[in-house]
Amino acid sequence: MTWDEEVHASRTHAAVVQARREVKLQQRGLEPIPGGNAGTLPLCIVAGALSSLLVWRRQGRQLRRRFHWRGLPFISAWLADQRRKWRQRGRLPPGRAAGQAATCRAQSSAAASTSGRSHLNPDLYHNPLFSSGSSFEAPTAPAKRVKKSKKKAKQRQIHGRPSPVSRLAARQSAELSIRASAAAAPERSPPVTAEPAVRLLSSQKGTYSVAGQMHSMADAADVYVLLSDYAALDRVFSSVEQSNVVHSNGQKQILQLCRWEFLIFSGTFKTLLSVAEDPVAGRLVFSLVNSSFMRDFEGRWQITPLDGGGCSIEHNLTVAPVVAPPETFAGYAQKIFMRQVSRVMEDLQGELARRGHI
Ligand SMILES: *[C@@H]1O[C@H](CO)[C@@H](O)[C@H](O)[C@H]1NC(C)=O
Ligand SMILES: *[C@@H]1O[C@H](CO)[C@@H](O)[C@H](O)[C@H]1NC(C)=O
Repeated sequence: MTWDEEVHASRTHAAVVQARREVKLQQRGLEPIPGGNAGTLPLCIVAGALSSLLVWRRQGRQLRRRFHWRGLPFISAWLADQRRKWRQRGRLPPGRAAGQAATCRAQSSAAASTSGRSHLNPDLYHNPLFSSGSSFEAPTAPAKRVKKSKKKAKQRQIHGRPSPVSRLAARQSAELSIRASAAAAPERSPPVTAEPAVRLLSSQKGTYSVAGQMHSMADAADVYVLLSDYAALDRVFSSVEQSNVVHSNGQKQILQLCRWEFLIFSGTFKTLLSVAEDPVAGRLVFSLVNSSFMRDFEGRWQITPLDGGGCSIEHNLTVAPVVAPPETFAGYAQKIFMRQVSRVMEDLQGELARRGHI
């Protein structure tokens, strides 16, 4: 039973009880007494959920103003990881898993509603960040719709076609979980020709080193030209909002506006980088000059032509964030930088493909 179904059923029940009582009283020639508050409990729960939602919204805004959230993007990686684990636990294809999850949610929403946190990833509840009683939006429409057309969906599944319902459920489920991380970056679907292989080199004293490598069908020179067109890097990498070349003491520097994300929040931070170019060796090294987000940063690119055509692209990233991630998130911080490297490399592949180099 969904939220409003439960409320409705409870109200109907209360109304029936009240009507019966009135009839009885009238039969005995007595005035009906006003009463019957059986319907107010679900209303209280709804009101409670809504007010805590409002509090969360308001506080969220205040918190964003008060704290420097830019220190916290690690947490979004941690959440993404939890979500993945949660999904894998079911060992179901995403569409079906989401469909079943939606049905489960619909069935258990009555019980869950008392906690005011229905439909949320259970793992999120156990996150100390969220155990302070703040409530999240708990949309009910998806579950309801899924239930209504469950039969149709089943028929479609028999014929092996992807059901719009399961797709809807999958999308809504994704939206629910993604709402938490609010990946504000625009969706890109690069035609990846070779998966980047990414590994952690080291993570010591808040400094993370990650190495990524991939093969590309593109010409080494084209890759080098693309990477050294600094003013266009914001069109290549989804995490770069702006990229401008500035000159300081005759030295070429790159001022970038990079994006961070945390839950439903996101923002940008400025980074000033210097670049060492070596076109002959196919090497580019970006080093930190100044940033409010990082103590240290180095991005190394090595493009090596391959005998059979194409090239090998290596990208090593070394980052020391200003705010060291808390112990709990150390493992997730590693993952976020590894993900960063693979995303950067995928973006590069995508851009090479768009430019017709592969
Ligand atoms: C470095 O950044 C800070 C603010 O983040 C700024 O006040 C300072 O002037 C910058 N220094 C240089 C050398 O750009
Ligand atoms: C990346 O790191 C690995 C391991 O230290 C090293 O072998 C490789 O040469 C590095 N690549 C670049 C481009 O710095």
